[in-house]
Amino acid sequence: MSQKGEAFDSNCMTLTRFVLQEQRKYKGATGDLTQLLNSIQTAVKAISSAVRKAGIAQLYGIAGETNIQGEVVKKLDVLSNDMFINMLQSSYTTCMLVSEENETAIEIETDKQGKYIVCFDPLDGSSNIDCLVSIGSIFGIYRKISEGAPTVADALQPGRKLVAAGYTLYGSATMFVLALQSGGVNGFTYDPSIGEFVLTDFNMRIPERGNIYSINEGYFTQWDRSVQEYVQAKKDPTKGKTYGARYVGSMVADVHRTIKYGGIFIYPATTSSKNGKLRLLYECNPMAYIVEKAGGKASAGKVEILDVVPTAIHQRSPIYLGSKLDVEEALSYIK
Ligand code: AHM
Ligand code: MG
Repeated sequence: MSQKGEAFDSNCMTLTRFVLQEQRKYKGATGDLTQLLNSIQTAVKAISSAVRKAGIAQLYGIAGETNIQGEVVKKLDVLSNDMFINMLQSSYTTCMLVSEENETAIEIETDKQGKYIVCFDPLDGSSNIDCLVSIGSIFGIYRKISEGAPTVADALQPGRKLVAAGYTLYGSATMFVLALQSGGVNGFTYDPSIGEFVLTDFNMRIPERGNIYSINEGYFTQWDRSVQEYVQAKKDPTKGKTYGARYVGSMVADVHRTIKYGGIFIYPATTSSKNGKLRLLYECNPMAYIVEKAGGKASAGKVEILDVVPTAIHQRSPIYLGSKLDVEEALSYIK
């Protein structure tokens, strides 16, 4: 009987292996970033399992709000936040954490401190959690800049200073997309049969132009004229080929599609939210970093997202992100 190819890849590139390999390129590397990324990996594997309701009885109990031990069940976003915090603080590589779920920055106990700061949104897309639409986690990693004990100022670095950023998408499959300072953007799909993220999307590049616009059009009357005119133009056949509209309402899903297929994602300022809705530190910056590394563009309107110097950990920013030519075209409407 003839055998064609291998049914089982005995030499697959896992995320752990990939990160280790990258680390070896740096002579002075301590392995701390590798360890940090491993702890995030553990957190997101557990979150993915919870999102997929792998243990329904554990999450909902047989009869409702309490689980089989009679404990009140934690909501998915709270559980995800706990997972990120616990894994990161026990990795001995971080000194300060900023989470969407915590009002103040979390300082790691002195004996567990390392040199990195992690800003994260443990489970983004809260309005999509209960209806089983795709959601995701987002993170950005900085190196501590000050001497002595960590302070909030260490977390208020512009996105340009990111050492690494990534997101995980809990979609029809779970995907981990990672951008490292040293290289490009790579995507790893979770293979539940071996419990590993496997490299499936090598060196992801965003198309230079797409044909999809992604924005919550319900706020049309609240937008600035420039955004209204741009979106109208995308629907007007006299102004060129019309675009398709897609809007999941989970930033990770909308950005992932934009990277894969091209196009533009916009969350602009509105009359009721002068700086838009999305948060600079753990939503806009990591996504802008990833999109730029994939060859795209990300702007706050007048400045590039990555150049904004943050003044508060939960500050918001308008965002225009996606294919280079699409973002440039949208920005050309801003007078
Ligand atoms: P969340 O942090 O409460 O989940 O909100 C962030 C989400 C993003 O994932 C998404 O892009 C945006 O909110 C959608 O907001 P809207 O419903 O206003 O369009
Ligand atoms: Mg969020």
